[in-house]
Amino acid sequence: MNTEFKLQIMDGIPAELPSTKPFDITINHAPKRKDILNKEEKKLAIRNALRYFDKKHHAVLSKEFAMELKEYGRIYMYRFRPDYKIHARPIHEYPHQSKQAAAIMLMLQNNLDYAVAQHPHELITYGGNGSVFQNWAQYLLTMKYLSEMTDEQTLAMYSGHPMGLFPSHKDAPRVVITNGMMIPNYSKPDDWEKFNALGVTQFGQMTAGSFMYIGPQGIVHGTTITVMNAARKISKSEEDRKGKLFVTCGLGGMSGAQPKAGKISGLVSVVAEINPKAVKTRHSQAWVDEVFEDLPALLKRINKAQAEKEAISLAYQGNIVDLWEFLLKENVKVDIGTDQTSLHNPWAGGYYPAGLTFDESNVLMATDPDRFKKEVQKTLLRHANAVNTMAGKGMYFFDYGNAFLLEASRAGADIVNADGTFKFKSYVQDILGPMCFDYGFGPFRWVCSSCDPNDLATTDKLALHVLEEMYKTAPDEIKQQLTDNILWIKDAMQNNLVVGSQARILYADSEARVKIAEAFNQAIKSGELSAPVILGRDHHDVSGTDSPYRETSNIYDGSSFTADMAVQNFVGDGFRGATWISLHNGGGVGWGEVINGGFGMVLDGTADSDRRLKSMLFWDVNNGIARRSWARNEEAMFAIKREMQRTPELKVTIPNMVDDDLLQDLF
Ligand SMILES: NC(=O)c1ccc[n+]([C@@H]2O[C@H](COP(=O)([O-])OP(=O)(O)OC[C@H]3O[C@@H](n4cnc5c(N)ncnc54)[C@H](O)[C@@H]3O)[C@@H](O)[C@H]2O)c1
Repeated sequence: MNTEFKLQIMDGIPAELPSTKPFDITINHAPKRKDILNKEEKKLAIRNALRYFDKKHHAVLSKEFAMELKEYGRIYMYRFRPDYKIHARPIHEYPHQSKQAAAIMLMLQNNLDYAVAQHPHELITYGGNGSVFQNWAQYLLTMKYLSEMTDEQTLAMYSGHPMGLFPSHKDAPRVVITNGMMIPNYSKPDDWEKFNALGVTQFGQMTAGSFMYIGPQGIVHGTTITVMNAARKISKSEEDRKGKLFVTCGLGGMSGAQPKAGKISGLVSVVAEINPKAVKTRHSQAWVDEVFEDLPALLKRINKAQAEKEAISLAYQGNIVDLWEFLLKENVKVDIGTDQTSLHNPWAGGYYPAGLTFDESNVLMATDPDRFKKEVQKTLLRHANAVNTMAGKGMYFFDYGNAFLLEASRAGADIVNADGTFKFKSYVQDILGPMCFDYGFGPFRWVCSSCDPNDLATTDKLALHVLEEMYKTAPDEIKQQLTDNILWIKDAMQNNLVVGSQARILYADSEARVKIAEAFNQAIKSGELSAPVILGRDHHDVSGTDSPYRETSNIYDGSSFTADMAVQNFVGDGFRGATWISLHNGGGVGWGEVINGGFGMVLDGTADSDRRLKSMLFWDVNNGIARRSWARNEEAMFAIKREMQRTPELKVTIPNMVDDDLLQDLF
């Protein structure tokens, strides 16, 4: 079986056509995309797709691809989806010349695992559009290249398309990925529709297109930190927080972590979700405790849970707007509110209008996109009005970086202050920015390439030891962050968070990331860990992402609309020893709204790994702290000065603060 798997990988695109595959209705599929191409452009899309195949197959495939374009709005090349199970396998099971390349195959396959990916057959990992590849030919060809490459080659990947292997050297990245890098003027949402339909670009989201998605765990941790600190904002006392009501929306790829985070934070949470399949998934994983379709029955349960101060997660299967309006009508006090619909992708399945079923919406968005857009905007207006009213009654509401405030304002909602800022803060402005990113704390992660849970347990133990040691001498400013993460890693195994690869996430700063990585590398060398460990992080981090309405929304010097930090990060990681690097347009808040990047790094217990990890991880965090410090963020100024004391070779330009009185009468 494994030999057959290896042979199929090495075969790449098969010489003979595999048989066609029936459309599998038992799994989640991407919605039908907009019919945006004109006749000539459609021909170009077919011509582009046929580039991957021998001429003798063109007559058959041209018709098939034309049908896919018509039916689904994209050419996925479904027929070429391999028959073997796609999931993270132990590293030695991949055919390879380079261990680093084998690790990349493991990560890539994890992103397409049915248990992990949102629309696996459309090669979409999360967020509605977050593509690993545009089509199955790209997948097959990439796996073949990875199986052949040596440590003296680099694979260049253009939006899912493997351009080829180019000679490089052992310290170069094995793969360089760019996704959706457009000429800036061609970065409107419809440009994505058009150029993606043509097969020349893709929306890589963040960790999807960089093979670094590790399933919902990645987001559970960040969401827990956010929800827990949101709860600390309404009350400092843990006892008092019990029974407080948290209302939000979305049980999808990332949003599905909300009920789990709410529960860990001790709250009564209610999450609305319109897609019955998404509700079922989270309920079957026990991340949602109980599901309600009937609002009065739900209210009864909320009342009981609040009275008994239960930590519980309830789902409302229906539209979020119906939930908010019902809670208002019933005069229910909501303590904390947010929203995690995919409003970075409002017109293609990210947000569902009220008054229509899930299926009706999916038909409407493809058949009458203009009417669909109007319905979304009407709903958004009601949504924002309800949130406004609830906030007026004392609810703490934060934008969850999903472009809710942005799209609601574009729909005409009354949520903009006279100075152009939003009435509500984003979770980065209020919580993650000042508490985590500015100090360098961000979503560091690792994957055990043995796929052995015992290795994961060992890494947890090593990481815990590092954090506990650091805590002993840590300044007060970062003690809370360390404490939260010590608790997290202690409970991680029993919280059963693994879906897919044996992965762990932890919010760590530069010092912790380097020390944890050093400990892993040493343990691989000594044999305490049985195989290499792959390091990475979410792009949603200190330095990786320039996104004015999210990761860099707490940058106030005007530079939040620039993308130098993310680009510098990508390049700097590349020459400091990352095993692969990626740079994306889009992701999180949407196409054209963000530039983000990430990396993967394979530790194999060698001195080379030790050298690379020190150099790259240090830069990967401190680049962002330096930029945040230059933007006059006090926490970042503190962190970078502290780092300069620890590391004499680091010399960062520190801003001089200006006395505001001086500026009063200038203009
Ligand atoms: N979790 C995080 O830490 C985090 C951080 C930053 C941003 N985000 C943002 O959160 C958003 C959600 O991400 P995701 O991966 O979960 O996306 P997703 O598309 O997988 O999930 C969103 C869910 O919302 C549901 N939905 C949409 N409109 C609805 C409505 N009106 N009523 C009820 N349900 C509705 C959809 O059916 C879907 O299941 C994205 O925009 C993402 O960028 C998340």
